[in-house]
Amino acid sequence: MSSSSTAGIHDLSFATTEFVLPHTALAEHNGTPVGKYHVGIGQRSMSVPAADEDIVTLGAAAAAPVVARHGADGIRTLVFATESSIDQAKAAGVYVHSLLGLPSATRVVELKQACYGATAALQFALGLIHRDPAQKVLVVASDVSRYDLDSPGEATQGAAAVAMLVTADPALVRIEEPSGLFTADVMDFWRPNYRDAALVDGQESIGAYLQAVQGTWKDYGEQGGRPLEAFDAFCYHQPFTRMAYKAHRHLLNSAGYDTDEAAVRRALEATTAYNEVIGNSYTASVYLGLAALLDRREDLDGRAVGFLSYGSGSVAEFFAGTVVPGYRAHLRTAEHRAAIERRRPIGYDRYRELHRWSLPTDGGDHPAPEQTTGPFRLAGIGGHRRRYVRR
Ligand code: HMG
Repeated sequence: MSSSSTAGIHDLSFATTEFVLPHTALAEHNGTPVGKYHVGIGQRSMSVPAADEDIVTLGAAAAAPVVARHGADGIRTLVFATESSIDQAKAAGVYVHSLLGLPSATRVVELKQACYGATAALQFALGLIHRDPAQKVLVVASDVSRYDLDSPGEATQGAAAVAMLVTADPALVRIEEPSGLFTADVMDFWRPNYRDAALVDGQESIGAYLQAVQGTWKDYGEQGGRPLEAFDAFCYHQPFTRMAYKAHRHLLNSAGYDTDEAAVRRALEATTAYNEVIGNSYTASVYLGLAALLDRREDLDGRAVGFLSYGSGSVAEFFAGTVVPGYRAHLRTAEHRAAIERRRPIGYDRYRELHRWSLPTDGGDHPAPEQTTGPFRLAGIGGHRRRYVRR
């Protein structure tokens, strides 16, 4: 049977990049009718990192307001979820731990399974809190989504980080047992260690996602989860926002329900507001959906939200959360809007330059061009060591 655990998400904050490329500019460059982007995939613009931004600076910018509001007391674990890792050995979270001045008595680790990593981090956090309810866990999900220039995936890039403080007595969302789980060994999307941009079979990836939706829902039912009617809203992983609609219709059909379009819109539309202007943020995407839902809907006290986290390759999980009454007093709606509005629009040529830019790998001393106005920046690299600064 499903049960309301007491633990869950106490605070949630996100950060995104310095620059933004509108899809109108991409459409003009490649001659695509812009309706394919605005309507077909449901994307209006994508966040583009400055040369001195990466998963560390974004992750630190997302987490700093959380630590400023609650202090570091009780945070004994920082879990950093990403698939845009900057080092094969050292966890990116260690840099964030240092930039935020967290105590040395902290465990820091990086988790990876494509876009699913943040949900693994959340479940890891809940397990730790179950063992010791006095502890708090800082979960940071941070990614830069990159596909090759002029590839079909190019329109579904983006970048953002979400930070969540997970505690025993949360102010936002209590996470329930059980979860529905699904794993299948598929090559729908992957990034070998020698590549900066992901490889993808677009149509196969959509099929694999839908298969995972069905698989998680089946397992969720078998584990004694809630019936579909019990949910007020659904947060799906959103590689592009139309994918959430495809996924939800597939869930309804495969569970034997009609697709009442007005009900589908009601369940999903508030969740897409940030993703449609930020683009795919991989691990952060499903939790950006949650941020948008909480920021936009005022009627969720005590209501159940379904979460579908999908990571190519593939691993997926369906689980439920209950929104804590009074949640609206703890939101960061104005800061979230500001994070989106502060981005500077760039044209196609500038975007292309940034896409191609990377720090040299020769071991020399190379400063990064100063571009970001955010609170943290990648200052450069020297002796193969990345240097970060807090402003
Ligand atoms: P594509 O071939 O450029 O586009 O690929 P398309 O031809 O499939 O068209 C897209 C939609 O636009 C279609 O709608 C068209 O009909 C419509 P649908 O049939 O799907 O409902 N369309 C139009 N609509 C209005 N006006 C028009 C118009 N023209 C066409 N003029 C694709 C699109 C998403 C496949 C591509 O961008 C891609 O490969 N993206 C990357 C892969 C991806 O995002 N996959 C999603 C599932 S996998 C996943 O979510 C995991 C992931 O996040 C990675 C991870 O886990 O780490 C990617």
